[in-house]
Formats: sequence, C-alpha cells, structure tokens
Amino acid sequence: AKHLLGIEYLAPDEITTLLDLAETYVELNRSKTKHSDVLAGLTQINMFFENSTRTQASFELAGKRLGADVMNMAMQASSTKKGETLIDTALTLNAMHPDLLVVRHPHSGAVNLLAEKVNCAVLNAGDGFHEHPTQALLDALTIRRAKGRLHRLSIAICGDIAHSRVARSNLILLGKMENRVRLVGPTTLMPSQISEFGVEVFDDMREGLADVDVVMMLRLQKERMDGGFIPSEREYYHRYGLDAEKLSYAKPDAIVMHPGPMNRGVEIDGTIADDINRSVIQEQVEMGVAVRMAAMDLLARNLRNRSAA
Ligand code: CP
Repeated sequence: AKHLLGIEYLAPDEITTLLDLAETYVELNRSKTKHSDVLAGLTQINMFFENSTRTQASFELAGKRLGADVMNMAMQASSTKKGETLIDTALTLNAMHPDLLVVRHPHSGAVNLLAEKVNCAVLNAGDGFHEHPTQALLDALTIRRAKGRLHRLSIAICGDIAHSRVARSNLILLGKMENRVRLVGPTTLMPSQISEFGVEVFDDMREGLADVDVVMMLRLQKERMDGGFIPSEREYYHRYGLDAEKLSYAKPDAIVMHPGPMNRGVEIDGTIADDINRSVIQEQVEMGVAVRMAAMDLLARNLRNRSAA
C-alpha cells in the first residue's frame, strides 16, 4: 500500500507482517544503539492539528531512530491560523518533497482527502471519529505479546465508544484477526450504527467483563460531546470506571489496557492502571514506537520499489 490511512484497508496477513517487523524494532529500541538507517535520506513531516503526547512523540522518535530527517510542524503557529486550508497547507508542504507525512486532524476523512493531493506516503495519526490505525496496531502487538496470540481472544472495549477512533480501529483489527469483541458502556455513548459491527453490546460492566482475556478502557471524550449528553464523572466512575471489583469478573489473567491519555478516577482507578501484574499501559506506549517504525519502514520500502520500477 502507498499510505496507512486505516485498518479497514489492511488484510490480516499485512497486519501480521507489520507486527512481525515491529518485534524487531522492539529489540532495536531496547538495544544500546537504538538506531538504524532504513529511512536515511528520507524526509518525514509530522502535522498534528490536534493535541497529542504519545502519538506525536513516538512518530518523531521512530523517524529519528530510523535515520529520517524529521520535521514537526507547529500547527498552532502555522498559516492555517490565517485561514489557509488543509489542502493548501498540504500542497505547500508537498512542494518541499517530503517522503512521509504523518497527520492528525479533528475531522473524520481529512487524512484520506489529504492523501489524494500529495505525492508522498501519508500515515493517519488519528482523524476525528474515523480511525487511529497505529494505535490499533500497537494495541494488537501488546495483546499478542501478553497473550501469545492474536486470535480467538475475548476482548471488552469499554466506555465512550461513540466518540472513539481508537475503538473503531481496534474493532476492525480485532475482528479481522478473528477475536470475539464486546463493547461495554452506556447506551448514550454507543455509536448509532452499532449493528454494523456484529459485536455483543453490554451496558453493565460486570456482565460485559465476564471471562474476558483483555479489558480495554477508553477515555471519556468530553471535548467531542458538543451539544450531546455529558455524564457526571462521579456517576460514570461508579457505573463504568474500572476498579478491582469490576475487574474480578474478567479472567484471572486478563490484561488491562488504555490508549491514554487517562482520566484516573473517571474511567479507571489509578491503582489498577499502575498494577504491573494486570496493566500493560506502559507496554502499549513502548510498542507504539516500534509499530510506527515498522509502518514507516514498510511504506518507505514501497516508495523505493515504486521509484525503482
Ligand atoms: N493514544 C493517543 O493517541 O494518545 P495521544 O493523543 O497522546 O497521542
């Protein structure tokens, strides 16, 4: 593929290939050198039109560790603030001959649109409610390492599903790899087209978590609830916040995940998040760098193959 725009465009064998390559980058990142030259001579531009800590930092580190020339556009200080459109901004950067463009944007579909206008490879770092493919890939690698496989697992994705591109990308990926996915949360925070996904839906945490292998918690995304129903944090924590009592319904070796940023005491109890026997939240961050290295490596190989042809 030319771009990484969403999990919906990946075949199961492409997911496996990317995760296998990411494993080699986990080793590289744990080594003393942490460096390779597979992106040497290539230019990577990161454009984040929305805030980010993990995705931005790990894409930047990934590019630098692979030897790319990495530029972070400060979008808050860019000419988009003077009214320049996304497309004009993209065309302007395209004229500087980047090879890899990493884009996060608040509007669903914005990254796909941008990919049609530029010559380089585009990686979606999260677009609106649509997709966050590298998050689902890093979650998949974390699950595969913790559970020894990425199929026939029972996985509960819990909380604010309606506003979550992370949930959407994970649902698609975990479904493609033949896992049983459950969505758990208040009906007000479930997407309207829930039947399309062919998954079980629960509004009770204890029923939803019963005997699952993986508990994936999501942030309550209040900034995306303009005009809609916003639950009180206290009530939400009581009914849907993951604490030891609710977690006891999952399998005894179930792992706890959260893509971050995390609201402690809202969707998750801080002691669960910090429990190294259950929580793999820090491993998710570590896998994020490796998965982004693998994604950019594979896209760069395709770029080179195309220019050699
Ligand atoms: N999980 C995730 O996308 O985090 P950031 O918003 O900090 O990048």
